[in-house]
Amino acid sequence: MGRSMVTGGLGLIGRQLASLLLDEGEEVVILDVAPVSGLAPRLRERIEYVRSDLTNWAQVLDAVKNSKVDTIYHVAAILPPGTEQNPAAAWDINLTGTYNVLEATRLLDIGQVVFASTTAVWDSTVPNIIPNDQAQYPVTMYGTSKLCCERLGEYYARRYGMDFRSVRFICIMGPGRVPGVGWTAYTSLVIDETAKGKPYVLKVKKDLRLHFLYLKDAAHALYDLKKAERSRLTRCVYNVDGYAATTQDIVNAIMKHNPDAQIEYDYDPEYQRVMDTEYVNLTKRTDDSLARQDWAWSPHFTLDTAVADFIHDVQTGATLQA
Ligand SMILES: NC(=O)c1ccc[n+]([C@@H]2O[C@H](COP(=O)([O-])OP(=O)(O)OC[C@H]3O[C@@H](n4cnc5c(N)ncnc54)[C@H](O)[C@@H]3O)[C@@H](O)[C@H]2O)c1
Repeated sequence: MGRSMVTGGLGLIGRQLASLLLDEGEEVVILDVAPVSGLAPRLRERIEYVRSDLTNWAQVLDAVKNSKVDTIYHVAAILPPGTEQNPAAAWDINLTGTYNVLEATRLLDIGQVVFASTTAVWDSTVPNIIPNDQAQYPVTMYGTSKLCCERLGEYYARRYGMDFRSVRFICIMGPGRVPGVGWTAYTSLVIDETAKGKPYVLKVKKDLRLHFLYLKDAAHALYDLKKAERSRLTRCVYNVDGYAATTQDIVNAIMKHNPDAQIEYDYDPEYQRVMDTEYVNLTKRTDDSLARQDWAWSPHFTLDTAVADFIHDVQTGATLQA
């Protein structure tokens, strides 16, 4: 039985990953700076929790040493718009935090680090199908910090033989996204809120088409990459893709599975401007053929099955946040 640490395990992707690992029979230690009260009680009672700040080296070393884990899923980060409003925090949490995790992993001989990266590592001039090894010139502090983490992980792999693996996530769709954390949160909130019987107002164009990965597939991607045979991996960092959908495609899928949903459009040009300038990469497909070839990556969910599962989990209280 494996024993894993999930940094940022109280966040959107981290808690879904923690739940998946437990279902796979692993022991899970969550390291997070947030209070554990944010986690659903049924998940809280199955994990070990360490409250630590990744920017604090002594706390990280102590937590990793005491946890006696064999794998660290490094998922914790600060995301936009926080990274752009406070670049110093982005540096501290995303860069110093990742350096601390890698150093603790090296010094304590932990087997593997699996890292969550992002398509924000590219600018908007990349091709419509973005190759795995596309040159990276990020325009945001978020993308810049995550790109540095990718390269830092590769450096540790090269210099110390560390087993560093990473996936680049596109827009994550799933229950528990928080308003104001990521401009794309509306794509999940419209499903979440209407499943709870509340009305929702969309501020973007009906035909804005983005690429999504369902939250449960995001957790699977990290876990599947961790389990992959190392000799088969030709890269440290892999693209993963899910499905493309317009705003109206999402609305149509919601209406199919939740016909009582109350959704309106109230177009906001400023919101759309941010989407058109800072999120252009999400309108493009990431070429994940290397992930499919090297570790048999394949998403389990389509837009239709993701929306149905999402609504079901919200309405039956099966989501993972308290
Ligand atoms: N959500 C998306 O659409 C998306 C897309 C691409 C990549 N990602 C990446 O996936 C990862 C997880 O994203 P998420 O959506 O779950 O984010 P989230 O904000 O929901 O979770 C991040 C977690 O990290 C924790 N954290 C922040 N600073 C910390 C610190 N100093 N010490 C310890 N813990 C700290 C937070 O408390 C939180 O629980 C991130 O690395 C992000 O860059 C997310």
